[in-house]
Amino acid sequence: MTVPHAMLAIEITQPGPPDVLAPCSVPVPVPKHGQILIRVAYAGVNRPDALQRAGAYNPPANASPLPGLECSGHVAAIGPGVTRWAVGDAVCALLPGGGYAEYALTAADHALPIPDGISLRDAACLPETCFTVWSNIVMRGGLRAGEKFLIHGGTSGIGTTAIQIARALGARVFTTAGSDKKCAVCTDLGAEAAFNYTEQDFVSEMKPHGGADLILDMVGGSYLPRNIKTLADDGRLVQIAFLTGPKIELNFAELMVRRLTITGSTLRPQSDLAKARIAAQIEQHVWPMIARGALKPVIDSEYPLDQAPAAHWRIETPGHIGKIVLKIQD
Ligand SMILES: NC(=O)c1ccc[n+]([C@@H]2O[C@H](COP(=O)([O-])OP(=O)(O)OC[C@H]3O[C@@H](n4cnc5c(N)ncnc54)[C@H](OP(=O)(O)O)[C@@H]3O)[C@@H](O)[C@H]2O)c1
Repeated sequence: MTVPHAMLAIEITQPGPPDVLAPCSVPVPVPKHGQILIRVAYAGVNRPDALQRAGAYNPPANASPLPGLECSGHVAAIGPGVTRWAVGDAVCALLPGGGYAEYALTAADHALPIPDGISLRDAACLPETCFTVWSNIVMRGGLRAGEKFLIHGGTSGIGTTAIQIARALGARVFTTAGSDKKCAVCTDLGAEAAFNYTEQDFVSEMKPHGGADLILDMVGGSYLPRNIKTLADDGRLVQIAFLTGPKIELNFAELMVRRLTITGSTLRPQSDLAKARIAAQIEQHVWPMIARGALKPVIDSEYPLDQAPAAHWRIETPGHIGKIVLKIQD
């Protein structure tokens, strides 16, 4: 495979709305020790990309300043010390940044083979959500078969993945979503019940079920005290974002009396080693779920790379269901 010196990419020209995304020509990066260069076919679009574009989520040191946290494509070059991959291998990968480009670098052990039966387009939408969901609901939240699991934002990229992984683990899944149509998508994906949060109160809806053993939340704000009320004794709350804000006055007495746990994490700033450990667990536990048809990415829409601003408008409006993907090249 011949690798050019320069490539087309999408850059964030300044912090702001989606229109600050613009095409640019930049040098193709060169893989260092332990890294691979991927010729990107598709890149997944995630809410953290929109936060980065708006100036609210800076890339870690050493990461590409270009947006894009996941992609699929073919290995174009390998750095010293890489043994698993060869040039031409089809992969999907978690990226530290730089996915909205014709070529992207990542650590070799943050890449995974394309699961059998999954297209390159769909595979591009797996890494960011699978890494986030697995590490938060299983490695951090300790979800077990038979437990009651409440997922907020059930039709988000994260939510649609979390519903399917939790069902495959044998958990009882409940979700919230912003419309009846979205709630129907959640139950079709395997949720036992979905609550339209514009009309229903999830705290009282979960009461007849005895509360939730685990909650995955991205909303924060007023949801924090309501989540605590919803947790069953010994329940766990895992926070992965604060769409409505991280600050609230809270009475922590219930944590002690009912032995609750509040935790959370964000994927991008974690060490390469931590991400490699998550990747290994995903290959061992989640890829077999895909192989047996228990997990499939839910795709909302596809845009060509030069329409990245339209993709960001789409993710920032309530209409979308599941993942948005950019087609970079054949
Ligand atoms: N911690 C991490 O490492 C990590 C990694 C990836 C993503 N995330 C976070 O996870 C969330 C989902 O990411 P994504 O890429 O899947 O984005 P997404 O598809 O845009 O999902 C956002 C979801 O939030 C829901 N939502 C927005 N405002 C809400 C509100 N006021 N009340 C209730 N629900 C609300 C929306 O559902 P409705 O339309 O039904 O309201 C939507 O489904 C984002 O907040 C993102 O920042 C965290």
